[in-house]
Amino acid sequence: MKLWGGRFSEDTNQLVLQYTSSITFEQRLLPYDIRGSIAHARMLGETGIIDAEDSRKIIDGLEGILRDYEQGLIEFNLDDEDIHMNVERILTERIGEVAGKLHTGRSRNDQIALDMHLWARDAVDALRKGVKSLQQSLISVAEEHFDVVIPGFTHLQRAQPVLLAHHLLAYVWMLLRDEKRLVALRDEIDRLPLGAAALAGTTFAIDREMVAEELGFSQLYENSLDAVSDRDYLLGLLFNCSTIMMHLSRLCEELVLWSSEEFSWIELSDAYATGSSIMPQKKNPDVPELVRGKSGRVYGHLMGLLTVLKGLPLAYNKDLQEDREGSFDAVDTVLPALELLAGTLSTMRVRKDKLAHVFDRDFSNATDLADYLVRKGLPFREAHAVVGQLVSDAIALETNLAGLSLEAMQERCSLIGRDVYDVLPAKAVIRARISRGGTAPAAVQMQLALAKEQCGLS
Ligand code: ARG
Repeated sequence: MKLWGGRFSEDTNQLVLQYTSSITFEQRLLPYDIRGSIAHARMLGETGIIDAEDSRKIIDGLEGILRDYEQGLIEFNLDDEDIHMNVERILTERIGEVAGKLHTGRSRNDQIALDMHLWARDAVDALRKGVKSLQQSLISVAEEHFDVVIPGFTHLQRAQPVLLAHHLLAYVWMLLRDEKRLVALRDEIDRLPLGAAALAGTTFAIDREMVAEELGFSQLYENSLDAVSDRDYLLGLLFNCSTIMMHLSRLCEELVLWSSEEFSWIELSDAYATGSSIMPQKKNPDVPELVRGKSGRVYGHLMGLLTVLKGLPLAYNKDLQEDREGSFDAVDTVLPALELLAGTLSTMRVRKDKLAHVFDRDFSNATDLADYLVRKGLPFREAHAVVGQLVSDAIALETNLAGLSLEAMQERCSLIGRDVYDVLPAKAVIRARISRGGTAPAAVQMQLALAKEQCGLS
């Protein structure tokens, strides 16, 4: 008979059972469910709501179930609908009737809210760790290849050269913002819902503070209706996951581009690339492509939960059971993505051989030539026009700006002197970007030190 079967005289239709039960996708909650139940049982015993002896039996029984779960020895049962009723059934099999006292002053509504808070708190910690390790990889590559200069783009057209380190550090800052959002989210999660019971609180003199303390929550939900209905923290988690995936997808897109023959700036390690079943020459960047692609499902889960919650009346509604699969899947998607990208970066080869020639036929020093003319006294708009003419002269001659003779340049503007050749090399262009946050090596060194400090990395 079902735990709630008292008022029923017919068996549940099989399809209804399958449709309404959540045990198939929430088994991972068992350790959290048990920790919550242990804290609840201890509180029931210490407040005298149940006998101390019964409380001890229940706690021992729950600890045994947890140990067996860790050994893979627990069998779940669809008939028991969800994780809470599965645990209660197993507990009853093990310690008998006294197991029935565990649910005093509690409901599955506040129980699931608690389980998800505990799970989400761990998920946030794991995400923070993953973010840190990717930041570490980005910083290591930046440091190891500090002297490498790459074209920076706007509109995916060459714009101005930047240090590879500068480019990679941009991702470190994005991830630092992600991490800060995760820290803020952890604060939001830090609130105990248990004690709300079904929706209105309980008639027993429970001690919520005691439970909160055992479970490491520093605050309580102050409204029982809010406690059982709130899924904002899961929206926060999904938004965080989405933002991280969005950032990763941008990095991935660049890794895909950079590893193409057309760029050849990097080569992925064999261990982090895959081949083609028909084209023997291929080495495909499947990991960055998949991470880029999987951002879609994570955004989808965010949109899904927002829609589940829209217009939902207080307090608990079964709709809320739809909070789970998407949240689990989002975290399960982001964690390996972070780890795999850290590995991809730390094993890839930066093709210094190719990058040494990347500026051979390139006009990404054009702004610097215009700035040079401004320093010689020309208004910037005129300088812009002169350099535009010089660029088209160079294109016609199939060369670059430094490939133009001094005479050819002076024909366009008499202010140009021999010192023009000092400002044109990519390294010189880089060195000149001394403004704070710019790409001059000294500025990037300072940025690197700040990033490491703020990320808590050394
Ligand atoms: N399995 C349910 C859920 O996941 C637990 C709460 C059930 N409460 C209820 N009144 N049916 O949301």
